[in-house]
Amino acid sequence: GGAKAICVTVDMPTLGDRRRQMRAGFKIPDALATPYFNDRNTGLFKIGGSPKRAILTWPDVEWLRSLTALPIVLKGILDPEDAELAISSGADAIVVSNHGARNLDTLPATIDALPAVAERVAGRIPIIIDGGIRRGTDVLKSIALGATAVMIGRPYVYALALGGSDGVRHCVDLLRREFETAMALTGRTSIGEIDRSLIW
Ligand SMILES: Cc1cc2nc3c(=O)[nH]c(=O)nc-3n(C[C@H](O)[C@H](O)[C@H](O)COP(=O)(O)O)c2cc1C
Repeated sequence: GGAKAICVTVDMPTLGDRRRQMRAGFKIPDALATPYFNDRNTGLFKIGGSPKRAILTWPDVEWLRSLTALPIVLKGILDPEDAELAISSGADAIVVSNHGARNLDTLPATIDALPAVAERVAGRIPIIIDGGIRRGTDVLKSIALGATAVMIGRPYVYALALGGSDGVRHCVDLLRREFETAMALTGRTSIGEIDRSLIW
């Protein structure tokens, strides 16, 4: 029982300009508000004149590290330099993520950001990737470009809305089957055999 890891989202010092949410009048209740991460250590942002406290900084990751033996996963890394800082702050894994491209427009696709991050990390810690994983082939390509694992956001949410827990199981089964098919069709019998040479 209990938590197996702690995942800290580090790509959201504040909420992005979410036009569709604004038009729909969507609001997250204050009670659900989570601390924001600010990697410049300034501690304070001013947006629209109102100061916003950025509660989390790199030293806070080190502090969290000192509190727990659980693996710490930092979610929302795109820059190899930040991957390096994550490792030196004690992270056990990182998630290459652009927050589902729903926070800051014009960010690169995570699959394009992955190779440089993987090169810098050089196998020291696992790299997870998310953003646009929709088919088993997306999983295959992610691993080929240096990911250890992938995560999904919207696919399981859609599956949940349509089919409840059975729907989520079905979603994961589909991805697994597509992934295994893609492995077979590229002649890979184990995940360890999935390397960059697979990319056309
Ligand atoms: C409705 C919704 C809510 C989300 N809320 C959070 C959140 O609270 N914290 C977080 O780190 N990421 C959040 N994300 C981003 C996801 O964790 C994930 O990075 C992203 O959805 C992956 O991209 P994909 O949806 O293309 O698979 C949210 C995404 C969606 C669609």
